[in-house]
Amino acid sequence: MAKNKLQRFSEIRNFNNVIEINYDVIFNNKTAGCWQKDIFKNNNPIVLELACGKGEYTIGLAKKNPNKNYIGIDIKGERIWKGAKDAIDLNLDNVRFLRTRIEHLNLVFSENEVSEIWITFPDPFLKKSKSRKRLTSLRFLEIYKQILSKKSFIHLKTDSQELYEYTLDVLVKNKLRILENLNDITKNKKIRDLDIKTYYEKKFNLMGKSITYIKFMLNNI
Ligand SMILES: C[S@@+](CC[C@H](N)C(=O)[O-])C[C@H]1O[C@@H](n2cnc3c(N)ncnc32)[C@H](O)[C@@H]1O
Repeated sequence: MAKNKLQRFSEIRNFNNVIEINYDVIFNNKTAGCWQKDIFKNNNPIVLELACGKGEYTIGLAKKNPNKNYIGIDIKGERIWKGAKDAIDLNLDNVRFLRTRIEHLNLVFSENEVSEIWITFPDPFLKKSKSRKRLTSLRFLEIYKQILSKKSFIHLKTDSQELYEYTLDVLVKNKLRILENLNDITKNKKIRDLDIKTYYEKKFNLMGKSITYIKFMLNNI
């Protein structure tokens, strides 16, 4: 493993805004039900960014909405390092990063604990054999349902036309409520918080790709 990567792995263990999920955290219930009271020490809503990578969206949202608590979630420690370091340098108290697989969210949050989810430029996993890994598959929506409060929103931003169409199909088939549906976000500049750009969004903009956006609710599953 590259030296820089190893150094970042050891550094994030000392960052007080990063939580790594291991058996101790899960089985001793160290986080489920504790995020507001013990971790953020306030009653503000908890918002997740899934597949956060280097955390640009989490940081951007946290700066715009200081009255909400944001948690960036990704499995890759060296990417989370960047977001966590930026949050420390910017003195952002309303940001944490969680290093875990998204499959484990129902073990680290309790029922109704989360009020909103952003999914930003997730890997589209285009091969049919990998479709279970898509973060908007029914399998994942059922995990989100276990931790989201009623009337919560999920936002998906993606450059992948295939993932966008696949997600619309999942939502329609399961009779889920779609509140916004844009096949090109430049067509509606008024939607709040859509203007933050991650590393991947900037890259896709340079390639001339359209960015799509769907806002939906899970009421029916
Ligand atoms: C294409 S990157 C997008 C990063 C970031 N949202 C951005 O726009 O720059 C996808 C990220 O999803 C993470 N990821 C994919 N599947 C995951 C899973 N099941 N659990 C946790 N992280 C996952 C990867 O580690 C990677 O950092």
